[in-house]
Amino acid sequence: MKVENEIMNEVIKVNQLNKKYPGGQQALRDFSLVVKEGEIFGFLGPNGAGKTTAIKILLGLLEATSGEVQVLGGNPAQPKVRRGLGYLPETANYYEFMNVLELLRFYGVLCDMSKEEIDRRGDEILELVGLSEVRRRPLREFSKGMLQRAGIAQALLHDPQLLILDEPMTGLDPLGRKRMRDIILSLREQGKTVFFSSHELSETEVVCDRFGILKQGELCWCGHPSEMVGDGDVNLERIFLRFIQEE
Ligand SMILES: Nc1ncnc2c1ncn2[C@@H]1O[C@H](COP(=O)(O)OP(=O)(O)OP(=O)(O)O)[C@@H](O)[C@H]1O
Ligand SMILES: [Mg+2]
Repeated sequence: MKVENEIMNEVIKVNQLNKKYPGGQQALRDFSLVVKEGEIFGFLGPNGAGKTTAIKILLGLLEATSGEVQVLGGNPAQPKVRRGLGYLPETANYYEFMNVLELLRFYGVLCDMSKEEIDRRGDEILELVGLSEVRRRPLREFSKGMLQRAGIAQALLHDPQLLILDEPMTGLDPLGRKRMRDIILSLREQGKTVFFSSHELSETEVVCDRFGILKQGELCWCGHPSEMVGDGDVNLERIFLRFIQEE
C-alpha cells in the first residue's frame, strides 16, 4: 500500500529522456526527474539549456526521441491527464481580437467547464492576476506584462492539479511578480504541484521547495541550497553560477 501511495505521489516522472531536433540539435540528454505532489519545483538553466523542450515534452506537445514520461500518473497526451494540467507557454499566441474574458471562455470550453463555472472562476482569476479593470479591452491593446497575466489566468482557470509554467515572472512589473509569488504560495497551500522555469533566481528561491539546474540538456544539480552543507554561505545564485561555469 505504501509503495502504491508513493507512486501516486509522483506527479511528474521522467526517465532517461533524450530529445534530438531534426536539425541535429541535442536538446536533452538522459534527463530524469521525479516531482512529488505538493512540491513547488524551480526549473533553472541558461538560455538554450533545454527547459522549454522538456516542458513541451511534459505536456505532450513534443515527442521525446527516447525515454519515458509520466504526468499525473499517465500519458500527457491523454485528455483526462490534460484536464489536470495548467500550462503557461513561454510565448503566448492568442487571438488578438478577443478580450481576456473571451479568452478565458474559449479555454474554459476546451476544459469542459460550464458557462457559469467559467464566469464565476473567471471573475476570481482576473481579480487575482490584476486584470479585472481591462477585461473588455482587446488583447491586441495589451502590454507584454498584461498578456503574461492573461496567460497566467488561462493556466489557472480550470483549477488544475499541476501547473507547468514556462517563465511565469517574465515581463511582470514588481507588483505582478509579487502577485505571482503569492499565487504560487497559495497554490502550495491548496496542495497543488507547480513546476516552473525561471531566470529570476532570487524570486524563485523564495517560493520553491526544490530546484533543478539544466545545462546543455543535462540535469547537473537537483536539490535545495540548504542541502549544500559545509559550503559556507550558499545561495541559489552561487550554486547556479558554480554549476553553469564548471567545465
Ligand atoms: N524547434 C527547434 N528546432 C531545432 N532546435 C531547437 C528547436 N527548439 C529549440 N531548439 C534548440 O534546443 C536547445 C534547447 O532550447 P530550449 O528552447 O529548450 O531552451 P531553454 O532552456 O528553454 O532556453 P531559454 O532560457 O532561452 O528559454 C537550444 O539549443 C535550441 O536552439
Ligand atoms: Mg525556454
